[in-house]
Amino acid sequence: MTAFPTRRLRRLRGTSALRRLSAEHHLVPSQLVLPVFVKEGIAASQPIGSMPGVSQHPLEKIAEVVDEAAAAGIGGVMLFGVPASRNAVGSGATDPDGILNRAIAVAKDAAAGRLTVQADLCLDEFTDHGHCGVLAADGTVDNDATLPIYAAMGVAQARAGADILGLSGMMDGQVAAVRAALDEAGFAHVAILAYSAKYASAFYGPFRDAVESTLDGDRRTYQMDPANAREGIEEALFDIAEGADVVMVKPAMPYLDVLARVSDRSSVPVWAYQVSGEYAMIEHAASAGLIDRERAIDESLLGIRRAGADVILTYWAIEVAGWLRAGKELS
Ligand code: PBG
Repeated sequence: MTAFPTRRLRRLRGTSALRRLSAEHHLVPSQLVLPVFVKEGIAASQPIGSMPGVSQHPLEKIAEVVDEAAAAGIGGVMLFGVPASRNAVGSGATDPDGILNRAIAVAKDAAAGRLTVQADLCLDEFTDHGHCGVLAADGTVDNDATLPIYAAMGVAQARAGADILGLSGMMDGQVAAVRAALDEAGFAHVAILAYSAKYASAFYGPFRDAVESTLDGDRRTYQMDPANAREGIEEALFDIAEGADVVMVKPAMPYLDVLARVSDRSSVPVWAYQVSGEYAMIEHAASAGLIDRERAIDESLLGIRRAGADVILTYWAIEVAGWLRAGKELS
């Protein structure tokens, strides 16, 4: 006689109401953050060729973008600056009149407390060589000479009104350096988001277009080797010990194992950045008719959440928040 199963896991999958009731993980608008590019010297928003649906915005447009993000109910915007001119030490990053610092002030004003204003704290958009730090005489990226510049950049961003600083440069000791400078300058309340496990990834390709990166070469002497997971946990624990309020894993999808392990070990919130290449892959595959766009977006974000991310930085933040508010059923 055939033995039929008594334990049937399909029972809870039978209807959409049962599936909704049984979902272990959810996306919520308040835990999505939108990366925003602000470019100096343009009159109107310009679409970014490598990232369909994403634009560089002029400073004048930032209040509107922030307003839209707040209306969507998302948790924050992460600002990136694209300056009109760059130099060896990235002075535009520490200048209060630099494009990123001005954008922070505009965003903070427009946000009016409805969402958080976050800023990328890294030199790569501001240096003419495109590296995340300043260079030593032999052309290598000089860790310790970069730290005081990050510290000054952090203070400038805090002064402009940033709530959370996203330290993405992968210099050793950057969290401690920025934390000390913030505290000394009277910004003890400003939080540090440490891009702790940030890998030297091909998936940043479209972003480098978005910020018009001048980098010739790669970032493998400071960003992490994709072969390493244990080291990613060590990076996160170091950053927590140095005072990070939040740690992040980036990119997200190829590093879900690292995300899960960091999330198990972290005593602070863990975020993930679904980067430009992850975005572009899904957009292009969907436009080629190969995958269902909305389901793929939803699934990619749920996977990141399931792996342990509390908050996700994603270029789809506003669109997905709209679906969530509308109670849209994707699967
Ligand atoms: C560094 C920075 C990068 C990204 C975010 N911050 C680029 C890099 O490290 O090369 C990439 C984000 C993305 O690809 O969406 N300022």
